[in-house]
Amino acid sequence: MSQPLDLTVASNPTAPASLKDAWQAQLERWYAHPGLYRWSLSNPLTRWLTRRRTRKLFDLMAGFVHSQVLLGCVRLDLFRQLHQAPATLVDLAQRTGLAPAVLQRLLLSAVALNLLEHRSQDRFGLGPLGVPLAQHEGIAQMIEHNHLLYQDMQDPMQFLNNAWSGGMADYWPYAHEKPQAAVADQDKFTRYSQLMAASQGFVVQEILSSYYFDEHQCVLDVGAGKGRFVSELAAHAPHLKFKMFDLPPVLDLARENLQAKGLSQRVALHPGSFLDDPLPEGADLITLVRVAHDHPDAVVRQILKKAFAALPVGGALLLAEPMAQPDEEAGQASASVDAYFHFYLLAMGAGRLRTPQELQSLMEEAGFTHVERVPNAMPIHARILVGRKSQCLPLIRQDSVN
Ligand SMILES: C[S@@+](CC[C@H](N)C(=O)[O-])C[C@H]1O[C@@H](n2cnc3c(N)ncnc32)[C@H](O)[C@@H]1O
Repeated sequence: MSQPLDLTVASNPTAPASLKDAWQAQLERWYAHPGLYRWSLSNPLTRWLTRRRTRKLFDLMAGFVHSQVLLGCVRLDLFRQLHQAPATLVDLAQRTGLAPAVLQRLLLSAVALNLLEHRSQDRFGLGPLGVPLAQHEGIAQMIEHNHLLYQDMQDPMQFLNNAWSGGMADYWPYAHEKPQAAVADQDKFTRYSQLMAASQGFVVQEILSSYYFDEHQCVLDVGAGKGRFVSELAAHAPHLKFKMFDLPPVLDLARENLQAKGLSQRVALHPGSFLDDPLPEGADLITLVRVAHDHPDAVVRQILKKAFAALPVGGALLLAEPMAQPDEEAGQASASVDAYFHFYLLAMGAGRLRTPQELQSLMEEAGFTHVERVPNAMPIHARILVGRKSQCLPLIRQDSVN
């Protein structure tokens, strides 16, 4: 069982201390014991464990350097340049205009981080982590975008005291205060919609390879952006018709995009705001892709209620977005993903990362039944929940029959 992530409303300070508490306190004493630290390093059976812990701590301390090495490589376009075309330091120095003595620091750091690797004849080629960066433009765009968050978080205490005063809050006009969304200029909608379209590919792949769309006739995508998900689903399931709901400036961008793809006849556009307007009826599947985490619980409740009202009996809601890793699945890698989203969503606005259980409860509260987790291969991109608007009639109370 994973614990709810909004600890401001969910706490039970009267619960008795558990056996786990005692075990954790004991571990803490062992970790703090200087003699045990030296002993574990001298013992070949435990040395690896202590070294690993120190290494992880060092990585935490150095993480900001790692992300700037990544950004440096992206800005110099090294991943695309080196894809299938390894090059020497001298060659790269000429192309980038950087002094070889300095550029080598970047290249060697990128090798240490598995982004690049040494090849024969003193050349550098792509390492295993560099290959996806050469292939997927969306990753490079997200790395560049994350620089905004990096700047916002430079002084963590100032950030925690006033998270919505930075570049990220300005980037997302709808995520904190309603009036800002109303007055934001078109450029802001264009900028974030372009980034969302570029970065949505991995999420779309997860959904299309995990959920069976054959039983549905018409899909309403809420918070649909420029329509990348709808376009790819249209190719994947040619029998489907579509509706898209998003803010008017975003659907203006979607209109051009759909026209260019020849999809205008299959997709009806419904501009509006789910804060003020009902959702259009007529779809038997409503999808919410990377939308709920942008908003506080009160808004998510509103969206889910509107989705429930817009669906016919027997219809379904599919919600896909990054979710907190349940305790039983959380390894080291997934836990650090949670840390990223906690801070990204705080800098962005009033939304938050939620566990699958929290989202499931919110869906059930809105009336959905049979809420299930759809297993997918790469949960780091998104986890998927599906719920139904039940076909069962409400139970007739005995006293109303008599
Ligand atoms: C994070 S983006 C996700 C877009 C797309 N589903 C994806 O995964 O790339 C959230 C979307 O919700 C839309 N949105 C935000 N507030 C909205 C509102 N009040 N009414 C309708 N759409 C809204 C935004 O314009 C944006 O397109």
